[in-house]
Amino acid sequence: MRTQVAIIGAGPAGLLLSHLLAQGGVESVVLETRSEEYVAARIRAGILEHSSVELLEAAGLGARLRAEGDEHRGIYLQWPGERHHLDFVNLTGRSVWVYGQTEVQKDLIAARRAAGQEIHYEVSDVGLHDIEGSPYVTYTDKNGQSARIDALAVAGCDGSFGVSRKAVPAAKTFERVYPYSWFGILADVAPSTDELIYAWHPDGFALHSMRSATVSRLYLQVPNGTDPQTWSDDQIWDALATRLGHGQNGWKLNPGPITDKSVLPMRSYVQTPMRHGNLFLAGDAAHIVPPTGAKGLNLAIADVALLSKALVARIAEKDDRPADAYSETAQRRVWRCTHFSWWMTTMLHTSGDPFDAELQLSQLRWVASSEAGATGLAENYAGLPIFI
Ligand code: FAD
Ligand code: PHB
Repeated sequence: MRTQVAIIGAGPAGLLLSHLLAQGGVESVVLETRSEEYVAARIRAGILEHSSVELLEAAGLGARLRAEGDEHRGIYLQWPGERHHLDFVNLTGRSVWVYGQTEVQKDLIAARRAAGQEIHYEVSDVGLHDIEGSPYVTYTDKNGQSARIDALAVAGCDGSFGVSRKAVPAAKTFERVYPYSWFGILADVAPSTDELIYAWHPDGFALHSMRSATVSRLYLQVPNGTDPQTWSDDQIWDALATRLGHGQNGWKLNPGPITDKSVLPMRSYVQTPMRHGNLFLAGDAAHIVPPTGAKGLNLAIADVALLSKALVARIAEKDDRPADAYSETAQRRVWRCTHFSWWMTTMLHTSGDPFDAELQLSQLRWVASSEAGATGLAENYAGLPIFI
């Protein structure tokens, strides 16, 4: 089989790339190890920054987002006894949207299907070859048949456990592993808040997020290696109530049936360069951020916005300049988001060290009370323009 771009991975990065390439007149084939149902149901990110929403709309993917998503002006930052609202719209003119990654993924699958896009699910043994010359990808299809795709370029959008990042020789990697994880739950209960609450607490961080008017998403800081099954539902709701300040100024956390429990380890990881020969990396294949800044999905979208333009210029217009600049341009945003996610994470998660705790509280008070401090957080959270 022959195509212009072979895309490895049908997560948000791979499918959005395929969509934007098609709009630029470049054809692609997508390979995915998992099933379509698995990919569409995976519970992950919940927040889209301003530029991501603009880009999805401009790409014709905004209808359901506008109808069913929920625009938020900002977030609440809190610590025991205090809750402060940061209004991103007042501070920066930009808002964020609550719209689950599962929904983005479903919209992308529907759009690619309507366009007749080839997506090969449940493939295995994916191998990348001759990426410095005439690249091709080999794999075993879902029926057990060996197959090969010849392409002009290969896009590695296969996330943090994929094969693409390993195909960049002599890559430089940067990593920070954090000494805590997030215990995430999904619950069939109306959110107890209108906008997200990020809470510092001596027992550990907690986050109240949401997916819709009837579904809440909440997280607790827990030690690495925590088994979610060792926490009863009552223990989870009690810990959330304590850390989120149930009873403070009359605020109440409404518990409800828990439909999903998972523990997510946290790390920062950056690999550079994001290109080798005709292989281009995008999204989690090139970088991971801890979820505290809500940046992972947004960063994948921003990479793909740049990469689609670079590949269209290279393939359809014979202009190599954007492709040559891709890695360096993308990395500027990657490092900004890596810093912001690290900063939010280290400001909000407790380590047990009293000196760290006082520094965190001082930082939180400053962010909540200074327009300069609040604007810095708001600008990073609501997101920078994609083309900077
Ligand atoms: P992925 O979504 O990982 O997609 C990669 C795809 O490649 C997968 O479908 C995988 O099955 C496939 N694949 C892997 N190996 C191969 C192979 N060898 N061949 C073919 N296919 C392969 N981000 C935010 O912006 N905001 C948030 O609020 C947020 N919250 C999060 C909460 C949780 C609990 C988690 C886990 C993540 C969160 N993130 C968040 C991060 C976000 O989900 C990821 O950054 C995003 O999924 C990256 O998209 P991607 O397409 O690059 O990678
Ligand atoms: C989520 O809703 O899953 C979510 C929201 C904000 C974050 C991380 C995750 O910072």
